[in-house]
Amino acid sequence: MSLSLRGPRVPLLPSIRFIKDCPGFFRECAQRYGDPFVVQLPPGYVAVTGDPEGLREIFSADPEIFEPLSRLPLEPVVGTHSMLLISGERHKRERRLLMPAFHGERMRAYGALMQQISARVTEGLRPGAPLVALQLTQAISLEIIIRAVFGVEEPERVRRFSEVITAYSDSYTPLIALVAPMRRSFGGRGPWARFQAHAQALDGLLTGQLERRGAEGQPREDILSLLLSTKDEAGQPLTERELKDELLTLLIAGHETTAIGMAWALYWLHRTPEAKQRLEEELAALGPRPEPEALVRLPYLAAVCDEALRLYPVVALASRKLRAPFTLRGHTLPVGMGLMASVTLAHSNPATYPEPERFRPERFLERKFSPFEYLPFGGGARRCLGAAFALYEMKVVLGSLLSAHRFSLAHELPIRAVRRHVTMAPEDGVPMRYEGAVQGASVAA
Ligand code: HEM
Repeated sequence: MSLSLRGPRVPLLPSIRFIKDCPGFFRECAQRYGDPFVVQLPPGYVAVTGDPEGLREIFSADPEIFEPLSRLPLEPVVGTHSMLLISGERHKRERRLLMPAFHGERMRAYGALMQQISARVTEGLRPGAPLVALQLTQAISLEIIIRAVFGVEEPERVRRFSEVITAYSDSYTPLIALVAPMRRSFGGRGPWARFQAHAQALDGLLTGQLERRGAEGQPREDILSLLLSTKDEAGQPLTERELKDELLTLLIAGHETTAIGMAWALYWLHRTPEAKQRLEEELAALGPRPEPEALVRLPYLAAVCDEALRLYPVVALASRKLRAPFTLRGHTLPVGMGLMASVTLAHSNPATYPEPERFRPERFLERKFSPFEYLPFGGGARRCLGAAFALYEMKVVLGSLLSAHRFSLAHELPIRAVRRHVTMAPEDGVPMRYEGAVQGASVAA
């Protein structure tokens, strides 16, 4: 392929570096070849940029010229009808249908639930007990999705959903996610057969939930109710398969990402005593039982969440494939070529963020960043649909946890970000210790 962009010429090495350490690899490439640069990855040639002007060009372009870069890693786990995998008119229609469920106003309905779940999950903790921050935040965010999105209420059924979803996610190993020939059953055994068994169990639970809703007839406040009641311009509702695939998409896109963001925030706060103290003072001013609506209005808590998502972006890149030729920073790119908006490159640009490696939430109070400088949720017509939900959840959960409890880090060693499916998570999940309840603070479970 003749391209005016520069990049590493060896084909295999970039794929290995990309899988092992995408942020580090992209930083080296940008230093060596300039931004944008080109790399050859499993889906083919991909142009990468983290430069605000390059990102502006991508996110402001006509969305019709893009489609998802690759179906391979996500299709089995989110389904063929997932919004993550469709493009053009269908994608636009599906987004329009789902959008009202994630509107800022709707979040209020979920605040009390998020707070209750945070209180219940921390109930059994005893002072001195070890815990892993990511396990704690994952337990919270999974239950939030099961209840706020799927609308499951009875504790026994919430537990069943939780077990089946955890087995489903864990059984989707990198081998079957990235190597298509491994997607076959070896006489009913092997990783694909295991994943299929868990997928069937989850499908059964979803069918049961849809049937229950059908029998009730009464709309509720959860996202499933909204999905069931939405119709397109022709008055058509989503089909059962479309509904299930969108529920799986919200589950996969929504629960681990938010849990990782919260675990990083806990990590950075406990490594940066002045930030932790400032947040504790802000929370203490709300009294012992802060309301969710009061928590989401706190400026420093919001800045802590923004800075945690900046420093170690949970999703390191937003990718597209070209359906029409496209010009990126003066370089003409052909149909079929991939594009990657590198969140990590944008977020570590010292011209935008002085001392980019420092956790300094104040930077978000001192100035506003454009959507081409700060993009933890991607951008343009495919910007994360759950961004408002995720930020609301991060603020309510972290605010509730830190109003009521004290934690400390189990060790002082720096923690690396490692790839976990398509996300970048703290390597050991952030081991911590529970120090005890804050005097006088309580959040009703
Ligand atoms: C901190 C948490 C989260 C992060 C960092 C995150 C990040 C992202 C990113 C980077 C994208 C791709 C955007 C692009 O291609 O430009 C995305 C897409 C998406 N996210 Fe999130 N996300 C988070 C939480 C959530 C939640 C809570 C939900 C829903 C419950 C959700 C639902 C979605 C959906 C449906 C898409 C596909 C949008 C489309 O293709 O039109 N995400 N997310």
